Amino acid sequence: MLRKDIHQENRISWNEATKAHNSHKRDQAAFFREGGHTLYPEEIELLGDLEGASIVHLQCNSGQDTLSLARIGGKVIGVDISDTAISFARQLSADSGIPATFIRADVYDWLADAAENKERFDVVFSSYGALVWLSDIATWAKGVSTILAHGRKLVLVDFHPLAMIFEWDWTLRYPYFAQGQAFEFEDGIGDYVALSGNCLAPSGYLEGVVNFKNPHPVKEFQWSIDEIISAVLGAGLILKEYHEYPYTNGAKLFKSMREEDGGRLYPPSGFPTLPLMYSLLAYQE
Ligand SMILES: C[S@@+](CC[C@H](N)C(=O)[O-])C[C@H]1O[C@@H](n2cnc3c(N)ncnc32)[C@H](O)[C@@H]1O
Repeated sequence: MLRKDIHQENRISWNEATKAHNSHKRDQAAFFREGGHTLYPEEIELLGDLEGASIVHLQCNSGQDTLSLARIGGKVIGVDISDTAISFARQLSADSGIPATFIRADVYDWLADAAENKERFDVVFSSYGALVWLSDIATWAKGVSTILAHGRKLVLVDFHPLAMIFEWDWTLRYPYFAQGQAFEFEDGIGDYVALSGNCLAPSGYLEGVVNFKNPHPVKEFQWSIDEIISAVLGAGLILKEYHEYPYTNGAKLFKSMREEDGGRLYPPSGFPTLPLMYSLLAYQE
């Protein structure tokens, strides 16, 4: 069931956290001006050649990946519900000289408007911590399907829902099968950039905001892989690729994760392997 009221509550928490997150990233505009980008090999491979492609980046946060998509050839629109994130993204676009359009909206409202205006895109991209904020996975997938041009693709790379069953210290806490049930987190969005250090600050890590406490709670929605794939197929998209990865890219989601090459974070040594990320490539007919 679509719960836009919860999305708005979450927006307040994202506004607060986004300030803390960006406070840790050294001169991001200079990083982009000097040719940097923030995409990982997993999404680059699925995105393929983007030269001249029209792209919408859903839940783009502060726009770093959006500008990276523009840098490798796309004409990109970034959409996010957070006021702070979208104003930061617009400023970063101006300061870096990389053009992109940023729209502040609930993703469901933007998808509905785009469908009504008969807008069609070559690529819909969403990644890293996106789907847990969506209260209705089937409506999201239908919205995505509607705005994809014939033969064009959805690229989704996200943290695996199996990872969401753990607390920070790896204790088992949350159900895997929850049918989109909302779970409340009193502490709101935390400062996961501070916890991840250099891994989430490719322009260089700054101390920034110290001991960040978010006064605004959030609610997250747990969707299983079955529910995500069923939503994508139910929306009429054709699934071409699905992959799972035993690491996260950049984000230290849990205690004692081991950092390896390329900013990949693995569970502590001695743990059995677990899927911590997945990716999905699906096409419009
Ligand atoms: C973990 S961040 C995603 C980061 C992203 N992968 C990037 O490129 O930086 C999740 C984002 O989802 C956004 N969000 C949460 N609920 C939303 C909604 N209903 N509509 C649009 N954006 C939403 C948040 O504001 C936040 O920026």
